[in-house]
Amino acid sequence: MELQDFITRTAREAGKIVMRHYGKVKTPRTKGDRGDIVTEVDIKSEDYIVERIRSAFPRDSIISEEAGHLGEARAEHTWLVDPLDGTRNYALGIPFFSISIALAKGGAGEAGAVYDPLHDEMFYAARGEGATMNGMPIEVSAEPHMEDALISVSWLRRRVDQSRFVGYIDRISRRTSYFRRLGSAALIAAYVAAGRVDAYIQGAINPWDIAAGTVLVSEAGGTLTDFEGNPIDLTRPYTDIVAAGPALHRQLLEEVIRG
Ligand code: IPD
Ligand code: CA
Ligand code: CA
Repeated sequence: MELQDFITRTAREAGKIVMRHYGKVKTPRTKGDRGDIVTEVDIKSEDYIVERIRSAFPRDSIISEEAGHLGEARAEHTWLVDPLDGTRNYALGIPFFSISIALAKGGAGEAGAVYDPLHDEMFYAARGEGATMNGMPIEVSAEPHMEDALISVSWLRRRVDQSRFVGYIDRISRRTSYFRRLGSAALIAAYVAAGRVDAYIQGAINPWDIAAGTVLVSEAGGTLTDFEGNPIDLTRPYTDIVAAGPALHRQLLEEVIRG
């Protein structure tokens, strides 16, 4: 089966599992950091995706949010899976969540999909092949000015220096009125790729949240880097990211991040 077909079919089927339980989840369990939750649906979706990958690509390793690292650690290819990104939104009935599946090699994303099952929107990209939404090419926005840009900013408490992020928000809010915190990192990155969100700044993101997004944003003509302007290394446990069209990305790095 062709890679695109495999990834998008798997994400779509996982989306069906997620939608079957939408509006019906019982009390979620908390995990790790306070405020971080997991539901039975995260696990059901993950079981399905992991099983599909294991039977189709038995030699590859998998890093999935709830199950952790599976398979041979030195495998050439690694799958990065977030079976439900935006669990808090999902559990509360806020219609912004997704499934993210990506294939990486040597810490760089090669292909990936972010699927929004509620709106049936499939974002897919592969290196050198462009980015699409439901089969149609997508592009990042060409907005070069912070003043007119819609910017999403988020971070995980405990893992980042919060005062830094308060500083970024202060600098951004003095320049733009279009400020959002949306709640599904993978889907926000896909929205940047599709030109719906002009820029995304996030502290301490896990690799499964952003692996597909790295391919989507760059194949859609955008730039997604860490706060030093380096490409994302998906072998790191978490990293700070900034994603936007090239002009806005430059401005955000220089005037907001380095401030
Ligand atoms: C979270 C969401 C959220 C982001 C967090 C993630 P989860 O993922 O993507 O938008 O700010 O960093 O952990 O727990 O809903 O899969
Ligand atoms: Ca996530
Ligand atoms: Ca998740």
